[in-house]
Amino acid sequence: MKVFICGGAGYIGSHLVHELSTLSQYEIIIIDNLSKGHVESIPAGITFENADICDKGALERVFTKHKPEAVMHFCASIAVGESVTDPLGYYENNVVGTIYLLQAMKKHNVKYFIFSSTAAIFGNPEETPIPDDSPTKPINPYGDTKLTVEKILAWTEDAHGIKYVCLRYFNACGAHESGKIGEDHDPETHLIPVILQVALGKREKIKIYGDKYDTKDGTCVRDYVHVTDLATAHIKALEYLVRENKSNKFNLGSGEGYTVKEVIEASRKITGHPIPEIIEEPRAGDPAILIAGSERAEKILGWKRKYNTIEDIVKTAWKYHQSHPNGYNNK
Ligand code: UFG
Repeated sequence: MKVFICGGAGYIGSHLVHELSTLSQYEIIIIDNLSKGHVESIPAGITFENADICDKGALERVFTKHKPEAVMHFCASIAVGESVTDPLGYYENNVVGTIYLLQAMKKHNVKYFIFSSTAAIFGNPEETPIPDDSPTKPINPYGDTKLTVEKILAWTEDAHGIKYVCLRYFNACGAHESGKIGEDHDPETHLIPVILQVALGKREKIKIYGDKYDTKDGTCVRDYVHVTDLATAHIKALEYLVRENKSNKFNLGSGEGYTVKEVIEASRKITGHPIPEIIEEPRAGDPAILIAGSERAEKILGWKRKYNTIEDIVKTAWKYHQSHPNGYNNK
């Protein structure tokens, strides 16, 4: 089966590419404009098209050339704080780009779509762990762009028969166990890589954004899910689409949350570095607690996580960061 991996040179996309490339029944074509992705993450022998999903002509060219049967869509702007200051840029990239992609799928009769959604669609959830059918109420533009696409997908299925799976990631983290690929955003804003940059001596301190939340130590709680486990969920989702020809939405969490302070403490243990911390003002758009179960994904997709503790996760991230102290480009 020919599969387009849009955003396949990015953090989560590259881990999916590595897992999918071990399965002989899939032919992978990576579509990425390299605005955030890294060509260095692409394994030898994988087809790569440098194309932007916001460029209709480029999409027409790659769909005509490769004739994919399924599309996995990882391209998005993902920083919650930045989405608050640049909502228009976020809607353009995350919503308009996805519309163009779906239009190309419709034109070229591609039936299956897997969408990277997010826990941010739930806003401040009414229930924790967040059930798969929980009401959605994003509190930042980033979450709203992803929810908007989920709504567009429902209408697109009705009108054009494109079957889709939305995977609502909680906090993606960690790195491939080889240490060869990992998380490299510029600038880096995510908690674990930022903490590890302190351990590498690239930052002086980790800034903790707020310690007055209603949580056990006052810092935000998040559900950290290893990126390879997220990749496995995509493969299960594709198998499900082909097998059942039905659309669905799944939370991908671990059922457990860690506070910012607990993640810092785990990182001190793994790295042996004191990792000094400083309390800062809370960051705009941050909910206090985001935790999800994954009952539906486990039951319907047969998804099973391999990495179950924050220490196991940080260990893999540390292996990548130690071998790439300046990221892929050695900046
Ligand atoms: N944090 C700090 N200091 C930092 C960086 C982060 O205290 O230097 C805190 C944040 O305030 C937050 C937690 O660490 O409480 C995690 O922050 P991240 O930036 O790592 O991740 P977010 O929870 O903001 O967002 C991530 C993804 C989103 C996704 C969300 C779902 O980036 O795409 O998880 O839970 F929607």
